[in-house]
Amino acid sequence: MTKALSPLGQKIRELKKKRNAVILAHNYQLPEVQEVADFRGDSLELSRVAAKTDAEVIVFCGVYFMAETAAILSPQKKVIMPDIYAGCPMANMLKADELKELKKGHPDAVVLGYVNTSAEVKAELDYCCTSTNAIAVVNALRDRKEIIFVPDKYLADFVAKKTGRKMIIWDGFCPTHIKILPEDVKREKKFHPFAKVMVHPECLPQVVSMADAVISTSQMAKFAKESEATEFIVGTEIGLVYRLKKDNPKKEFYPASERAVCPNMKRTTEEKIVSALEEMKEEVRVPEDIRIRAKKSIDRMLEIV
Ligand code: 13P
Ligand code: SF4
Repeated sequence: MTKALSPLGQKIRELKKKRNAVILAHNYQLPEVQEVADFRGDSLELSRVAAKTDAEVIVFCGVYFMAETAAILSPQKKVIMPDIYAGCPMANMLKADELKELKKGHPDAVVLGYVNTSAEVKAELDYCCTSTNAIAVVNALRDRKEIIFVPDKYLADFVAKKTGRKMIIWDGFCPTHIKILPEDVKREKKFHPFAKVMVHPECLPQVVSMADAVISTSQMAKFAKESEATEFIVGTEIGLVYRLKKDNPKKEFYPASERAVCPNMKRTTEEKIVSALEEMKEEVRVPEDIRIRAKKSIDRMLEIV
């Protein structure tokens, strides 16, 4: 299943060496982008890798908030995006000023935010979390009376059900994950009755309730590898299916819905990676005062998990 590197892939490899760069790709990236990347992963993994690497340059193949997170954790490195317009509509559903207003109405609440937020919003958080660790972070806040959870109302709903905590929730969502409907899962289950259903917590609650496992993209990669099952229905953005098939050539993976495509995640191409490395742009910068405050929310999360 591993593809040989294309001529563009070869060029990227040479440029990467010349620039002392590392290429990070989110699990939803196009197959050819996943192939040229040094690391593939979910939001948490990529931010951790970004901080540990010795490279001077990080080429982030993902969406803007992820590259910002890399810049927050690695201020001494240059973070560039092959397509600076690859944003996350969910992250864009909450502005820092809106969060400030919400906080004013709940002065005693602890403020928890999904990693899918801008650096400015992260600077307003007490704690950051990812889809992998949101439940653990909420459980760690058991002595706090009020919790504000932003911006994903469906992740919040899932976490609230799992922890028994009522939370103050922002009305954000992922436009890609809500395209996966209960009837899609029902149909795939009918076609593949022995398949395990893995679903991302950004999905609709009705879809989440039909899953055998509600997990992040990299947890899905782990679950598929470790499970004795040989067939899986995949309830997330379809880019992950490439990685799952590559890692598990003897197993079968069926997207819950072919419509679950994140157009922003598909903006990055090999051509754009070449240009990014040649021209060393577009750089993602986070102002130092915001970076320091945003980093605190990530550090507090990492102290818990
Ligand atoms: P994870 O890769 O952290 O599971 O997140 C999914 C997602 O939608 C990222 O934008
Ligand atoms: Fe944002 Fe959804 Fe795309 Fe992830 S899949 S980057 S949450 S829009």
